[in-house]
Amino acid sequence: MSAHERASAGFAAWFGSPPTGCWAAPGRLNLVGEHTDYNDGFVLPFALARRTVVAAAAVHEPRWAVWSERAAETVEFGIDQLAPGAVEGWAGYVAGVVWSLRNAGYDVGGARLVVSSDVPVGAGLSSSAALECAVLAALADLSSLDVPLDERPRLAQQAEIDYVGVPCGIMDQTAATLCRPGHGLFLDCRTLAYEHVALDPTIDGLAVLVIDTRASHRLVTGEYAVRRRQCEAAATALGVRALRDASPTDIDRLDDAVLRRRARHVVTENDRVLEVVARLRAGDVASIGPLLTASHESLRDDFEVSSPELDAAVDAALGAGAIGARMTGAGFGGCALALVGADRVGA
Ligand code: GLA
Repeated sequence: MSAHERASAGFAAWFGSPPTGCWAAPGRLNLVGEHTDYNDGFVLPFALARRTVVAAAAVHEPRWAVWSERAAETVEFGIDQLAPGAVEGWAGYVAGVVWSLRNAGYDVGGARLVVSSDVPVGAGLSSSAALECAVLAALADLSSLDVPLDERPRLAQQAEIDYVGVPCGIMDQTAATLCRPGHGLFLDCRTLAYEHVALDPTIDGLAVLVIDTRASHRLVTGEYAVRRRQCEAAATALGVRALRDASPTDIDRLDDAVLRRRARHVVTENDRVLEVVARLRAGDVASIGPLLTASHESLRDDFEVSSPELDAAVDAALGAGAIGARMTGAGFGGCALALVGADRVGA
């Protein structure tokens, strides 16, 4: 059964009546542009065919009841439990969206929700953003709120940062909201301007493999916050608003060797995104392979967010003939991606 069918059937089984509707948001794979979003830089994610589906119906009082297929539990909360952090665990992402919408002045009403998902958790494929964005879409429609599409990523991100307490950037929620089939989402994380760039490797006889190392990324939250602080410190030392504004020659002015490496990753990674976008616009998917591999090396050596499992996955893919491979997502575990000839998928 699809996540859609499971959510819908789960709702009827759990709440005893059919849902008003189902809302969905996809997981994402970031092709290139890692740890650049919170530096006002560029990213290029695309949506996966796997999605999180929320079956939902409105209720009259301001209470929310959520059943998660994955957690096999129901969590309920009322308006008095909307202080950031009050609801913990997976349901915190749901409560966070309610909080975020209300915080922005939207009069979101109570609801019953059932969540089913095919996006793996902890794999760096943004299961949390998919959950936030699907819940946001459901609640907005059920309460007839006119929440502009372009405003939704920020509201979902706010839920994650301020309610759940994960200091994430804007990429994942934007991808889960705006990506289109057959396209990468080229996003400028400073202006939030975006372009749908055609991305269909199959035309060139290629495939993008998603390789789940299944290695836990438990270090990720703490180390992620450390990387953010280091990037801010590097920008401050250089006297720029964000590392987006630093040039390759600026980096040499940083005395601290760690900050220099962090900054070099961000500056070179932004360039790689622009170069990949240029090549995709020119219809030359096959030539982006070395840029993807260079991204991995930079994340491994300069940003230091890879892991032995991710390095092994990338090396194995390249050894088996991939034309490019890299870790994807925040790092320390989760998934790698590889661009391979369609005839080399098995290898
Ligand atoms: C996580 C965050 C994103 C982004 C990536 C790294 O997925 O949620 O905002 O920073 O890590 O590129």
